[in-house]
Amino acid sequence: MQVTMVVNDEEVTREIEGRLLLVHFLRDHLALTGTHWGCDTSNCGTCVVWLDGEPVKSCTVLAAMAGGREVRTVEGLEQGGELDPVQKGFVECHGLQCGFCTPGMMMTARALLDRNTSPSEEEIREAISGQICRCTGYSTIVRSIQWAAAEEAGTRTTTADAPTADSGSAS
Ligand code: FES
Ligand code: FES
Repeated sequence: MQVTMVVNDEEVTREIEGRLLLVHFLRDHLALTGTHWGCDTSNCGTCVVWLDGEPVKSCTVLAAMAGGREVRTVEGLEQGGELDPVQKGFVECHGLQCGFCTPGMMMTARALLDRNTSPSEEEIREAISGQICRCTGYSTIVRSIQWAAAEEAGTRTTTADAPTADSGSAS
């Protein structure tokens, strides 16, 4: 079957099998390998992309279901050669170690900040609660998102001003 969708502002059409998952469509048909595939159980969340502006686990969506819709991946976060504040936050606050969970975390974080410009630590932890990080203990991820929120609000003056999240794992 043929499927057409808009991915990162560009219309794409491909011939696919009806059973193909969106995560594999993005990675294998479009070479957008920033979206990772980490499990067979819909638990890890490293595959999160946006479907019509809403974060979804792309391993739970058939590529055919995305037909006629808009998809955004981590490759589409950067605009005009400028990193998104969320991406900058992860750099500034060391929000990653191995980086495997990072694309999905960033997509969820961007969606959170788009609807809540000043989320509490609890709200951030709730937003990323469906995603697993094996490395960071989550604290630096929370801090990265807080950094991005402060950056966008114009209230951050130095990296040292980034709010500190409690150490320990996310709920
Ligand atoms: S690949 Fe693990 S939740 Fe999608
Ligand atoms: S940075 Fe390694 S899994 Fe999150």
